[in-house]
Amino acid sequence: QSFRRLEYCAPNYTFAQVGLDIALDPARTIVKSRLEVLPGASHEAGSPLVLQGHELEFVSLRINGEAHRQFELTPETLIIHALPNEGKQSFIVEIICVCVPEKNTSLMGLYVSNGNFFTQCEAEGFRKITYFLDRPDVMARYHVTLRAREAEYPVLLSNGNLISTEKLPNGWHSAVWEDPFLKPSYLFALVAGKLECIEETITTSSGAKKLLQIWVEPHDLKKTRHAMDSLIASIHWDEKRYGLELDLERFMIVAVGDFNMGAMENKGLNIFNTKYVLARPETATDADFANIESVVAHEYFHNWTGNRVTCRDWFQLSLKEGLTVFRDQEFSADQMGSESGRAVKRIEDVRLLRQLQFPEDAGPMAHPIRPDEYQEINNFYTVTVYEKGAEVVRMYQTLLGVDGFRKGMDLYFQRHDGQAVTCDDFLFAMADANGRDLSQFKNWYSQAGTPKVRVEESYDADKRQYQVTLRQSPAVNAANKDGKPFHIPLKMRLLTPADDRVEALLELTQDQQTWNFDDVTSRPVLSINRSFSAPINLDFNQSEADLLTMFSSDDDAFNRWEAGQKLAMQMILGNRLPDAALIEAYRNLLTDPDLDPAFKELALTLPAEAYLYEQCASVDPQKIYAARRAFRHAIASELRIEWAALYQQMQTSGPFSPDAASAGKRALKNLALSMLLEADPLIWAPMAVNQYQNADNMTDRYAALAGLVIHGSKSAAACLEDFYIRFADDALVIDKWFALQSSRPPVANAESTLSDVKRLREHEAFKMNNPNRVRSVIHAFCMSNPASFHQVDGSGYAFWAESVLALDPINPQIAARLARGLDRWRHFAPIYQEQMLAALKRVAACETLSADVKEVVSKALEN
Ligand code: ARG
Ligand code: ZN
Repeated sequence: QSFRRLEYCAPNYTFAQVGLDIALDPARTIVKSRLEVLPGASHEAGSPLVLQGHELEFVSLRINGEAHRQFELTPETLIIHALPNEGKQSFIVEIICVCVPEKNTSLMGLYVSNGNFFTQCEAEGFRKITYFLDRPDVMARYHVTLRAREAEYPVLLSNGNLISTEKLPNGWHSAVWEDPFLKPSYLFALVAGKLECIEETITTSSGAKKLLQIWVEPHDLKKTRHAMDSLIASIHWDEKRYGLELDLERFMIVAVGDFNMGAMENKGLNIFNTKYVLARPETATDADFANIESVVAHEYFHNWTGNRVTCRDWFQLSLKEGLTVFRDQEFSADQMGSESGRAVKRIEDVRLLRQLQFPEDAGPMAHPIRPDEYQEINNFYTVTVYEKGAEVVRMYQTLLGVDGFRKGMDLYFQRHDGQAVTCDDFLFAMADANGRDLSQFKNWYSQAGTPKVRVEESYDADKRQYQVTLRQSPAVNAANKDGKPFHIPLKMRLLTPADDRVEALLELTQDQQTWNFDDVTSRPVLSINRSFSAPINLDFNQSEADLLTMFSSDDDAFNRWEAGQKLAMQMILGNRLPDAALIEAYRNLLTDPDLDPAFKELALTLPAEAYLYEQCASVDPQKIYAARRAFRHAIASELRIEWAALYQQMQTSGPFSPDAASAGKRALKNLALSMLLEADPLIWAPMAVNQYQNADNMTDRYAALAGLVIHGSKSAAACLEDFYIRFADDALVIDKWFALQSSRPPVANAESTLSDVKRLREHEAFKMNNPNRVRSVIHAFCMSNPASFHQVDGSGYAFWAESVLALDPINPQIAARLARGLDRWRHFAPIYQEQMLAALKRVAACETLSADVKEVVSKALEN
């Protein structure tokens, strides 16, 4: 079954008030709902009320207090006929139904994790709790009573404000929660169990006092400080940057070990994967600290962009996700504490976009940021909707300026607070607030694929005139038939020895446009798409000499980094080693005392294999791996003196701090260690073992361990064993232990990674129904370890098929994510292709596939 954007119909009924009374029992939870129903925007007299319900046991139905028998039950719906007064006036529906949380392994709806209750309702999980109009344009006020046995479930949480608590007979107790704001069902949440919290009270801009809480299992309390600090910083940032204040008296975050995604922005009760809450220097890396800060901010920012203003339908998902990712990116950039830090954050974000989203946009699941069709909405929580969506929001800010963008945001909230709206509504707010016509900009919402922009330039020395011509070609693909030109903002600057200060924002709106620049004193080097102002592929034949100039002196840090990446990429793909000029450029960069260490680390990290694949027509993963490894070996050995010096200079002293400057130093130090292990493994392995044993933080300990494992050191096995024993009772660290082994590239004279992975799958600590553990073993191997996964004998693909089929009955979302691993099969050299096709067909042949996996594999086989 497939759903289409253009088939949207307003609801024929809506709810004013929702009362829920939930008696929690893992084996049999009784849910009583009381719905005050009103005719909706598209109401027709006499039309039935069709509620969604999934895997529920129906018990009873009453209307206006009377038992009601005119209804039908289907596996997905409860259809209620013969409504009072043909449904033209409000009436009360009361439903009793039962669900079984302890059997719920999909982690959608109400489920049990480590003995506690949690919910996940986005996108369509509420229908697994009770029969409902489970769609985001039905917004209501919720009044929730939770009941449970007090000894097992002392804490009972839901959205909004706590109204009362009560002791009940037989060891039960109850809590009543009321959410004063209208919300759609996907933002409902409840949590119950043995949890404890840290709390803080803060005063927000209006002078109101707010209670902030982070709820975790008692033994994790000591790991919550960083998340709390991140929350407080986010609250202040949203006030300062967008004038948006926290609207509830209380804001709660709860951590859960079994979770499909990163986190969820339920109104006033955010539920988080433990991975994005818990951190201590001894157990979390710098990357973990940074991710926690950004996910806490992301979910908090949803309170306005997502909750106060929500989506009309799920095709509009990027309305809240693209915008909220943009906001969390900007927040994290501001937290970096320096201009160079901001640039580092931008490079990291773009690198992720190009490694993950560009391939998606070129593959069988390509879709515009506002998709036109889906079979299973859970498959569309994608890097396109999120990350490319954020790039599209960023382009408004580039075109309108930071102040113009703010005006657009203000108008958006002025117009739409409390409403469920569309991407068009956001665009109109931006356009109207700035008196701009953004109609062509709409194409970013409707066309899939990464646009290509071709650059041609000429310089007339006599006239001192420079000319640049840009030609755009929208990607040609199934989802993009009309191929209209995009509105593309390209920041540019001409780099000349005399520094002519020629800088502009070019707005490319036609297929082809030419710009002339006067008074250019000498042939310039063109620095274009600065800061990656548009999510495009540049087709620009810049000479290696020009690229070297940019790599050593472009004042735009992003383009400086980009020039280095392009040079390395061209040489790797041409099977070349770095030439003397590039090695010199690397040397100068590494020894420049004024450059940010974090930037140096990024500049000396080679393009990922996934990004290199995108530049080839017929990918041979083993060849690319070998060429990239050889290139890296050359950088390691040619610069061994510099690496050794950096390894000493970048040591940080004093107590651990996760701030950006210290994290940057550690990143560069650990890159140096990895390079030294690459160049002279026998000399440096003892140093790595020493760092492993004496580190006072996880970043350094893990980096040393990874270096030993990746470079096939003899000491690796003993350190891995030590690591497991040291952290055996810390699930998130054990995930790292699994992931490190599953993502090990091929090592000479060692067993294949696949045989390790199969062994790890049998390990006593491996759990097929815990998403984090599964991701750390199976997804890590199939999706982040290309050189080990892509074997010509197809063994990796056979493992993939087996794993998708094993996971699907347990958790379709996690299975479907893994199923994406063979998306790009047509893009590979024939020997790989055949094997991938066989694996895909094996999965497709299963007759009991979930809608989630079916959509992914059928699209892979079709397109
Ligand atoms: N809205 C959440 C976020 O981005 C993601 C939740 C999606 N969950 C799902 N099961 N599809 O913050
Ligand atoms: Zn989000």
